[in-house]
Amino acid sequence: MAIVIKTPDEIERMRRACRLAAEVLEMIEPYVKPGITTIEINDICHDFIVNTQQAIPAPLNYRGFPKSICTSINHQVCHGIPGGKRLKRGDIVNIDVTIIKDGFHGDTSKMFFIGEPSILARRLVNVTQEALFVGIEQVKPGAKSGDIGSAIQQYAEARNYTIVREYCGHGIGREFHEEPQIVHYKTPSGGITLQPGMCFTIEPMVNAGKRNVKVLPDGWTVVTKDRSLSAQWEHTLLVTDEGCEILTLRKEEMNKTT
Ligand code: MF3
Ligand code: CO
Ligand code: CO
Repeated sequence: MAIVIKTPDEIERMRRACRLAAEVLEMIEPYVKPGITTIEINDICHDFIVNTQQAIPAPLNYRGFPKSICTSINHQVCHGIPGGKRLKRGDIVNIDVTIIKDGFHGDTSKMFFIGEPSILARRLVNVTQEALFVGIEQVKPGAKSGDIGSAIQQYAEARNYTIVREYCGHGIGREFHEEPQIVHYKTPSGGITLQPGMCFTIEPMVNAGKRNVKVLPDGWTVVTKDRSLSAQWEHTLLVTDEGCEILTLRKEEMNKTT
């Protein structure tokens, strides 16, 4: 399927879906504390999405995924399945929310600290968020999709971290995963030319150790092979005439853009 250029009406619906996804991450924040299980977090998000937002949690039954959000702890890279393990002081956890409203998807994730993180964990998490925003700064009409990954890889590797290559950002709209692919590293091809009306995610996964990952026997949870810590942040973006709009921006991030 080709890249979809969204119409003004579709863009308005993308804005609404993405705002709801961002609001799930804002809503869940006070619950993400030592002692809670990731199933409990899943259930609170699920009820909020279904009952309050009257939206659909996109991961649920997506290619057989069994829960409504993804929760990835410490050396888990992405696609962690919420379960009965209690979060404890010092953990870092990514919560990845995708909702469908009025036929359109909004996809976003952020990292949470449980209690006080180690200096190393805090640095990894902060550098990964900075890498996402360095990628976002590349997004404007006429730029190449490959500029995003080059900038992200350069930023992370200059700080002695590695970029996961097996998973990437993606076009998004009526479908969860559309074209184009947005990789988070430099490629020979340089990718496609960005045009106003394109919507896609940027969602770098950054490891403290080696870049290699594997999928656990549950068929979903991706972990670092060397068990090093991993962090991820994700936004859904719209390419505009001037540059881009971060459709999943949260209130706490409003100081991060110009
Ligand atoms: N939200 C993830 C992404 O950013 C995809 C999760 S697929 C699931 O693309 F099935 F694991 F939920
Ligand atoms: Co995504
Ligand atoms: Co996501």
